Amino acid sequence: MIRRPPGPKPHLVIGNMPLAGRAPLPTFLRWARQFGDIFYYRALWLHVYFLNHPDLIEAVLIGNARSVQKDHVVRNSRWFLGEGLLTSEGESWLRQRRLLQPAFHRARIASYAKIMVDLTEHMLSGWRAGEVRDIHADMMQLTLRIVVRCLFPVEAGEIEKIPSAMNALMRNASGVRMLFPPVTRYLPIPTMIAVREAVRHLDETVYRIIAERRASPDCAGDLLSTLVRARDEDGSRLTDRQLRDEIMTFLLAGHETTALALSWTWHLLAEHRAVEEKLHRELGRVLGNRAAGSADVPALTYSERVIKESMRLYPPAWSLARTVTADLYMGGYRIPAGANVVMSQWIMHRHPRYFPEPETFDPDRWLPQQAEKLPRFAYFPFGGGGRQCIGASFAMMEAVLVLVTIARRFRLRSVPGETVVPVPGFTLRPKHGIPMRLEAEPAEELGNLHSLAAENLSEQL
Ligand code: HEM
Repeated sequence: MIRRPPGPKPHLVIGNMPLAGRAPLPTFLRWARQFGDIFYYRALWLHVYFLNHPDLIEAVLIGNARSVQKDHVVRNSRWFLGEGLLTSEGESWLRQRRLLQPAFHRARIASYAKIMVDLTEHMLSGWRAGEVRDIHADMMQLTLRIVVRCLFPVEAGEIEKIPSAMNALMRNASGVRMLFPPVTRYLPIPTMIAVREAVRHLDETVYRIIAERRASPDCAGDLLSTLVRARDEDGSRLTDRQLRDEIMTFLLAGHETTALALSWTWHLLAEHRAVEEKLHRELGRVLGNRAAGSADVPALTYSERVIKESMRLYPPAWSLARTVTADLYMGGYRIPAGANVVMSQWIMHRHPRYFPEPETFDPDRWLPQQAEKLPRFAYFPFGGGGRQCIGASFAMMEAVLVLVTIARRFRLRSVPGETVVPVPGFTLRPKHGIPMRLEAEPAEELGNLHSLAAENLSEQL
């Protein structure tokens, strides 16, 4: 008989299905407060051990990384992601990680800054003060464009279908659905039809990009050229299918999470005017009237703290899960092979022991003298250990640059009566988007008045 950690009372047959319930996040939080560092529940046939202590999380992601593999949801998403960096395991994963890492070196990432700022400016040229926009939809489109232009430079026309197909994929292939066995993918039901259709569109585009790049390989050093030129250990080139899996992975992993980090940040800033004010003071001090570049990022320390604090309260990846492949012993319990461990950023980032007044949005928690006291896994928006996000530095630079580029031009205001609800699926998405009203940044209005006055003057002359 296995001695199990404490946990919620199970319902007959189904056990507990918090993710299918009405309020999964408050439920998990309540259980964590009630049962402590580790709790257990069964969801249908899945045995779940939920870990709520930084040391236990470290023990899984670093100490026992060889005794776990990615969970069912990630394994099932091989259906559309194939065997790219996110979904592969063991030797195959390690080979890919070594191959792809150079595309994310500091110097290479700095070279992406201009693309990030230019594409943001381009988006802003279509924004008008006074209008209400779904900021989440805007951020999704922008970050997708950025990842495509930075990692797979192709003609704009090539990527037309990517945003809507990606959206359909993410909407229909997430959460509980991904727990069901692969056979359900062939069911003639609307969600599965939508996923199959989206994958077909994406495949079409991605294979076309591969064919074009194979026909005229250049030495631009972007991720796509690195992949096309790469050779496997036996000297053979990556097949079209391997390339396709890698590209699909980066398109997916490389945009939605950053878009969410930004979307939640706008939501929080609108609710916390004092923080917004402080951010603007930093922009004035560091940038004055000019656009940001990669060299400004180290000086934009408050902006970075805002993003970090936003990812504490609204972590785009709200949980990580692993399936145990060899028995683990932790917290005084045996976690048997075949069981699942879940480590949730949403829960851990709200632990009052590490984050006093956890619900308060306070970017100054991230001042170095306070932040360095935290245990490694009290805060882990990018995961940790060998499988840590390869795009973490890319994402941080992108989030800061997009944030300040928009903030120089507009302040984003919540729309009265609209409630914004986080939904824990594959990622932490806002249920009905984030509608926000645009207000011209006063300095920007002043700038427009100056340029209007200059135009009038030149007309008169
Ligand atoms: C704020 C933005 C982002 C967040 C919060 C985030 C979060 C994460 C997390 C938590 C993991 C680890 C998953 C696990 O251990 O199961 C991960 C892995 C990964 N991320 Fe990110 N990510 C972000 C941006 C990006 C970007 C911009 C890229 C690419 C340009 C990217 C590409 C990847 C890839 C390929 C992996 C798999 C790495 C591996 O297994 O070796 N991510 N990400």
